Amino acid sequence: MNFNIATIPGDGIGPDIIEQAVLVLNKIGEKFGHTFNYTEVLAGGAAIDAKGEPLPQETIDICKKSDSVLLGAVGGPKWDNLPGDKRPEKALLGLRGELGLFANLRPATLHKALKDACPLKPEIIGDGLDILVVRELTGGIYFGERGRRDSINGEEAYDTECYSVKEVERIAKIAFDSAMKRNKKVTSVDKANILESSRLWRSVVEKVAKDYPEVELNHMYVDNAAMQLVRNPKQFDVIVTSNMFGDILSDEASMITGSIGMLPSASLGEGTLGMYEPIHGSAPDIAGQNKANPIATILSAAMMLRYSFNLEKEASCIEDAVTKVLEENYRTGDIMSEGMKLVGTKEMGELIINAL
Ligand code: IPM
Ligand code: MG
Repeated sequence: MNFNIATIPGDGIGPDIIEQAVLVLNKIGEKFGHTFNYTEVLAGGAAIDAKGEPLPQETIDICKKSDSVLLGAVGGPKWDNLPGDKRPEKALLGLRGELGLFANLRPATLHKALKDACPLKPEIIGDGLDILVVRELTGGIYFGERGRRDSINGEEAYDTECYSVKEVERIAKIAFDSAMKRNKKVTSVDKANILESSRLWRSVVEKVAKDYPEVELNHMYVDNAAMQLVRNPKQFDVIVTSNMFGDILSDEASMITGSIGMLPSASLGEGTLGMYEPIHGSAPDIAGQNKANPIATILSAAMMLRYSFNLEKEASCIEDAVTKVLEENYRTGDIMSEGMKLVGTKEMGELIINAL
């Protein structure tokens, strides 16, 4: 089969890790008889430097016409002092919004080989951890009304959290559908003791749950969820939550995988077009130094094969190759521990390609 992929290397380590993911995809194409065509487009700081804006219209158009989008990372200190809507991060939100990618799947799985890189105690980890965070991605405070205004205390700033029934319904369905393919448990995380938007969220999730009698549902306040993730992560299967809570909890969950450099993500909408990216940032301090861990991006490419192209065998092939290389004790700096073999970005990519 033939697929068109828009690639957005972006900033910092973005180009380093996208390069490796593309090499892995090419090898998969060779092995299974698919052709992947790439169109590289600009977004984030790279687009600000070249075009004066973080998300040029051309980028949006090309992404919309593609079968999927593979993104590295955006942002860096160089652009930190720009006003909110001119910052590199605006490109990410713009793409998520423009492409209608309301569901963000972030699987936090601890590879057995990485137990030593996980900061939790062995008795908490047990025989492994496997949590799927389902984050709402195009609503809530990220997209709500915001601004500055005068008040009796002088200038003030505000951001608003707003959720509609429809927005909660569709993300809840994704969570329950995912749970049906896993361990049939959904934890909905909110702050319903304080926020009206959370109270609506909770009631809609309960309504959707009625269509999934086999799935066990519980609700948890976000502060408690943050604690439970490190106290007893084994209680979780699928976590479904709002845009901002999902942002925070998925970073926390990433640490149970050993490193934020391990966690891939898929952003999905109504159709098959998706955007795939590691959940980590652009790490400008190690950019271009062959130090970044490319695994989160390579695993994101695997998610692309599974969710946008329906190529399950090919996706598993990549995931198995990653497991094999980790079991052979190869490590990038972020997941390095005593007695392991330290490798760079390129070597890690090569090892995974050889293991495919
Ligand atoms: C993420 C990132 C982004 C977010 C930033 C870079 C805008 O932290 O994808 O988790 O907050 O969504
Ligand atoms: Mg984040």
